[in-house]
Amino acid sequence: MSEFQSISLALFLTVAWAVWAARVAYVQRRKKSGKLADLSSESSLIAFASQTGTAELLAKKLAAQQDCAAVAFDQLTLEHMSALENITFVVSTYGDGEPPDNGRKLFKQLGRSSVHFPRLKFSVVALGDKTYPDFCAFGYALQQRMLQAGATEFKSIELHDRITAEEIGTANHVKPVSLRLIRQQRLNKGPSDGLFELEFEVLDKTAVWQAGDLVDFKLPNAYQDPHMRTYSIASVPEEGVLKLIVRQYKQENGEFGVCSKWLTFTLTEGDVVDGYIRENKVCHLEDMHSPILKIATGSGLAGVRSQVMQRKQNGEHGPIWLIYGERYPEQDEPLADELQQWLEEGTLKQLDKVFSRQSISQSETAPRYVQDKIAEQAQEIQKFIQQNGHIYVCGRHHSMGVEVDLALQKLFGEAEYERLVDEHRYHRDTY
Ligand SMILES: Cc1cc2nc3c(=O)[nH]c(=O)nc-3n(C[C@H](O)[C@H](O)[C@H](O)COP(=O)(O)OP(=O)(O)OC[C@H]3O[C@@H](n4cnc5c(N)ncnc54)[C@H](O)[C@@H]3O)c2cc1C
Ligand SMILES: Cc1cc2nc3c(=O)[nH]c(=O)nc-3n(C[C@H](O)[C@H](O)[C@H](O)COP(=O)(O)O)c2cc1C
Repeated sequence: MSEFQSISLALFLTVAWAVWAARVAYVQRRKKSGKLADLSSESSLIAFASQTGTAELLAKKLAAQQDCAAVAFDQLTLEHMSALENITFVVSTYGDGEPPDNGRKLFKQLGRSSVHFPRLKFSVVALGDKTYPDFCAFGYALQQRMLQAGATEFKSIELHDRITAEEIGTANHVKPVSLRLIRQQRLNKGPSDGLFELEFEVLDKTAVWQAGDLVDFKLPNAYQDPHMRTYSIASVPEEGVLKLIVRQYKQENGEFGVCSKWLTFTLTEGDVVDGYIRENKVCHLEDMHSPILKIATGSGLAGVRSQVMQRKQNGEHGPIWLIYGERYPEQDEPLADELQQWLEEGTLKQLDKVFSRQSISQSETAPRYVQDKIAEQAQEIQKFIQQNGHIYVCGRHHSMGVEVDLALQKLFGEAEYERLVDEHRYHRDTY
């Protein structure tokens, strides 16, 4: 081989290697990001619709095993789907048998009569919870829509009841974190069910989270209850502690809920427990500058507090308006001093508290529920949200989350409401 040929060959091999390495890096990056810039070269895909991240973890695990990409529903279009040969959906069910927020748009589009996928093979992996009446309802609804669109189911629907991040087992997402309880304080008094602030020292100093993230707890073996319980983290790592706000849950028969009782009653200061910190992207702050309207009741204050603290850490930030609902004005004023301080220092632009059980002398006409306040402040809310504002709803799904959802639909009208959902500006941290 001449010198010229040797140099040419070396050059060719170097360029080929660089192209191959760039392609591998691109595919890896794309798999990690869950976004697809270009789907034209894909024949198989895993698509996930997830509210609190569990379906996303499972989808990414399956994608790694099958060496294909995992992509969120809201990154996928009907055109992308037409070009595929094979798709696996990994989806949870939210609300009352509904799609998670990031699955709503595509699911609606799949219902159009013009949608036709004669070539496409699909399967559904459905995540749900049998304590809800419509177990895995969204998984079944999606299966029906795909069959109606002429696609072929290559594997029967796979159902998972309360599958946890730990069971899915993608190591870096579900590493247990040791937490030492250092403070346990009741935030209310009187007849309402106890609301507690819990403060834990994080013994694993490498643990990280951000506002909106969750922590899962497994009950001690003696309880013989294998199901994890989830709590919204109420603090940011910069505070040096992990805080929770926990309602002492009462069941219909008057007995306390198992995990909330364990956390607020059985555990004592100094005890060390394992928690599993979990990313909850739906409730992350999109940016520091857009206006945010926080609507919360009761323990929903956890999701409020972490975001307010994250914005405070950032220094300069956009306006925050909090509408907070509780029961009794004299007895239910959790974190009253901290809320007042946020208002006085300008961290909160506006604070509206409403109480559902105020006496007639306090006011006959004042709004009693957060949804009443939304209706009363309709024009101001519209103005506030117009400037790329975000809405976060934190607390119990029944009935607060449901009623607030209806009030927001009424306030914005169908088109604007759908736009807020599609643009990820309406975040539901409800449970
Ligand atoms: C994403 C997320 C975030 C959460 N954040 C918080 C928080 O910050 N603070 C807080 O106090 N709680 C929070 N929860 C609720 C918490 O996980 C537990 O559900 C709650 O503490 C009750 O658990 P328990 O073991 O005390 O009650 P259990 O012993 O589980 O008893 C509760 C009873 O109600 C039923 N039940 C439980 N949950 C529901 C439900 N959602 N809808 C209908 N029936 C139900 C059960 O079947 C049972 O009969 C959150 C839940 C989720 C999913
Ligand atoms: C507010 C709320 C509503 C839910 N509604 C249902 C339901 O109607 N049917 C069901 O099977 N599971 C329901 N679930 C349970 C979830 O689907 C289940 O916990 C799932 O593993 C969550 O996955 P994700 O983290 O990917 O969203 C609901 C959970 C929450 C928090």
